[in-house]
Amino acid sequence: MPSPIIAHGLEGVIAGSTRLSRVDGLAGELIIAGYPLEEIAANASFEETTFLLWNDRLPDAAELADFQQRLASLRALPEATVALLRAVAAEKTPPMDALRMAAATLSLGSVEGDANEATALVARFPTVVAAYWRLLHGAEPVTPDPALGHAANYLYMLNGEGPTAAQARGVETYLNTVIDHSFNASTFTARVITATASDLVSAITGAVGALKGPLHGGAPGPALDMVFEIGQADRAEAYLRAKLERGERLMGFGHRVYKVRDPRADVLSAAAEKMYLAGGDMQLYELARSVEEKAVALLAEYKPGRKLQTNVEFYTALLLHGLGLKTALFTPTFAVGRVAGWTAHCLEQRAEGRLIRPGSDYHGGLGRQWTAISERG
Ligand code: COA
Repeated sequence: MPSPIIAHGLEGVIAGSTRLSRVDGLAGELIIAGYPLEEIAANASFEETTFLLWNDRLPDAAELADFQQRLASLRALPEATVALLRAVAAEKTPPMDALRMAAATLSLGSVEGDANEATALVARFPTVVAAYWRLLHGAEPVTPDPALGHAANYLYMLNGEGPTAAQARGVETYLNTVIDHSFNASTFTARVITATASDLVSAITGAVGALKGPLHGGAPGPALDMVFEIGQADRAEAYLRAKLERGERLMGFGHRVYKVRDPRADVLSAAAEKMYLAGGDMQLYELARSVEEKAVALLAEYKPGRKLQTNVEFYTALLLHGLGLKTALFTPTFAVGRVAGWTAHCLEQRAEGRLIRPGSDYHGGLGRQWTAISERG
């Protein structure tokens, strides 16, 4: 019998089809429901992009107003969720773990059925993250403001004061940029869970767990730490070289699919540049640009042929830092955007209705015989 071809890490495997997003790793192109990312990221509101994913078209004015109102009406958290967050904050649990625990409670409050669960999850993720962040720092959660859009309200709930228009646009562009990305690890996790005919809250809770890992959504914090540690452009080469000599990975670089610069890095770098310009201090932005340039050159030298380029996380870090977010909030904020994509994939998977169950190549022993415990040496 010919040996099966094993795709370790499922690399190169087309595991299903989707109308939600297309990633072209060689062209460096990301399509979100038919639109090149660059068309929508800096123009659409997060509500519009979410509606687009769920309905495969942009809303008209009345539909958008209705959708905004529906999302805003579901922002408040069930009491049990807030009680959980208080208890978890007392233990100083990291925010992604708190989000995972809280996500599992979001079916509370008479939320039933896929559509309602999807809306509640998208509406409540920012409230969970902001409330937890404040509790963790000894402050009380801020009640959501229904007059503010989804993105602006997130910053409001974090800081207790309304963001400037530039800050609101910055976070909105970020959330749109990370909203969906085909069958990435967390999205695939959500689809696998949905495909068992389980519920959306279970699927999204699993997805949060997958996103938490540093090889997926956990990279922007370390990427920014690296820029800070480098501190000035002329130290970049020695620092990065030492890291690569030790066999360490440079966070914010490399991607399973993109073999050219991640198009999301371009969108976020432009958004970050705008924001730092508005703030009048370009020093960190310029340092990051030179670290990026050096890192890409050194990766080509140390890993020739691997085509390791800048990924989304590098400029995520810069943009979110510019918005005043601490590094521990980077991955939870990624989840605030990606939850809309996750739910869209769950709905699509539900319609497809086929269990996801790959085969595996067994390489364990064979023909072993039972030994009683008294005879095991
Ligand atoms: N820094 C240094 N080396 C890297 C690297 C990085 N960021 N990314 C990959 N490599 C190296 C690997 O060590 C490996 O080298 P080897 O063949 O000599 O062993 C080679 O490049 C291929 O890596 P591999 O792990 O097979 O690639 P992958 O497709 O599985 O990895 C990532 C994709 C994203 C997991 C990987 O690039 C990575 O760890 N990047 C850093 C974390 C990050 O930024 N994650 C966010 C992704 S959006």
